[in-house]
Amino acid sequence: MASGSSSSKQKPSSGEHFEKLGLNEWLWTQCHNMGLRQPTPIQVNCIPPILEGKDCIGCAKTGSGKTAAFALPILQKLSEDPFGIFALVLTPTRELAFQIAEQFNVLGKPINVRVTVITGGLDMMQQGIDLQVKPHIVISTPGRLADHLQSCDTFSLRKIKFLVLDEADRLIEDDFGEQLETIFKVLPKKRQTLLFSATMTKHLKDLQDVAMNKPFFWQQKSEVATVEGLKQYYVLMPADIKDAYLMQILDKYTEINKKSSIMIFTNTCKYTQILGMVCTQLGLPCVVLHSMIRQKERLAALAKFKSNQINILIATDVASRYHYTFIDIPTVDLIINHNVPNKPKDYVHRVGRTARAGRCGTAITLVTQFDVRLVHAIEEFVNSKMEEYDTKEKDVMKILVEVATAKREAEIRLDERDFGVQKEINKRKKLLMEGKDPDEEARKKQKYIREKNQEKKNKRTQKPKSKT
Ligand SMILES: Nc1ncnc2c1ncn2[C@@H]1O[C@H](COP(=O)(O)OP(=O)(O)OP(=O)(O)O)[C@@H](O)[C@H]1O
Ligand SMILES: [Mg+2]
Repeated sequence: MASGSSSSKQKPSSGEHFEKLGLNEWLWTQCHNMGLRQPTPIQVNCIPPILEGKDCIGCAKTGSGKTAAFALPILQKLSEDPFGIFALVLTPTRELAFQIAEQFNVLGKPINVRVTVITGGLDMMQQGIDLQVKPHIVISTPGRLADHLQSCDTFSLRKIKFLVLDEADRLIEDDFGEQLETIFKVLPKKRQTLLFSATMTKHLKDLQDVAMNKPFFWQQKSEVATVEGLKQYYVLMPADIKDAYLMQILDKYTEINKKSSIMIFTNTCKYTQILGMVCTQLGLPCVVLHSMIRQKERLAALAKFKSNQINILIATDVASRYHYTFIDIPTVDLIINHNVPNKPKDYVHRVGRTARAGRCGTAITLVTQFDVRLVHAIEEFVNSKMEEYDTKEKDVMKILVEVATAKREAEIRLDERDFGVQKEINKRKKLLMEGKDPDEEARKKQKYIREKNQEKKNKRTQKPKSKT
């Protein structure tokens, strides 16, 4: 923890212009219209080779403009030889699919690009119809696209020119393997494959070997995993009064920064819901996002936050397969980690929601006596130290009782609503949809836990070898 600094800016590379990257006039005019003045380093480096027809792997930090790095050259090629379905973009989360679609729609407006999003949680019949009318760009999560491929033959991906795997590391790590295989089988061998990711992993290298043809590879060089515009703080506090600290920080921050946009990350759906209710009770309007909320409501909540109607969003980061940590909302200026993420990489993705595209931002991590080791692991991974955030314990004490009461009331209300039961029902529904028997799955899980516990017990009771 102690003080420290980071290096390497996410700023547009000085002296470079969209005009010089080989893009047609209508595209760079559109970039200017959107307010993108200069290309970012990943755009400068990856757009020309993609235009030349090369496969490409691009790795750069969060918020560095990876989407436009593949969307711009694809749109250019599409405008030269328009037909559908021209490109397929795969991405691990539903929300991310919609964000990518938005960028394609805006950048491709002058050529009336047709973009379709195919993700879970939305009407499959309608998606089938959308696919039949041959959109130019299909943006999809692997699961739902694989479902469509297996259940109907009214569309074909055999002529696509581009396959993009965005957040490729997550696509591979999150066990999409089987679905990717189903999709890859129906794609033409002759195509351009583009992989984009915030981190380069061994899995990505493996994928490169199977899916690509001598790709152009570009990785942003940097010693520090987070961007320079990000100030990183921690607050050390006793675990049992953490929520009072959170409310005090929010209260003070929103008083000074009236137009701020704040994202708070927690570790469970239930806690997200409870914190949302506590915030509302204390006069801090917010929206919550977690996997127990239906897709339509999640998009509506995101829209409210994006349009600044509500400036606090509370979310889980790993809610089954929907990683809200990928959200791109440029105005987010504060990230609060209500829990310290177990994996340093998750920390990087969370704090990467602020200080995007050369802007500034702040991240505050709430640290209890139990988390110090995790914080050190994060600092080592990021190669930068967090500084202590200034909070007044005296002010926290003033709201202690109010927060504890609001929290208790929220817990009672959730119990009345059978939040836990609903979660169980959702889980069972999901298993049924996957063609599995929920009771059988529960038995398997119990058996697995029993075996694991037995293994641990055996290890503990093994007598240490006597020294001779
Ligand atoms: N050349 C540019 N100049 C200024 N802003 C840009 C530029 N290119 C993209 N942006 C903006 O930067 C933000 C981040 O872009 P994008 O979502 O593509 O980043 P990313 O690298 O994919 O991040 P992540 O790893 O979090 O997905 C977007 O709001 C986008 O509009
Ligand atoms: Mg991205």
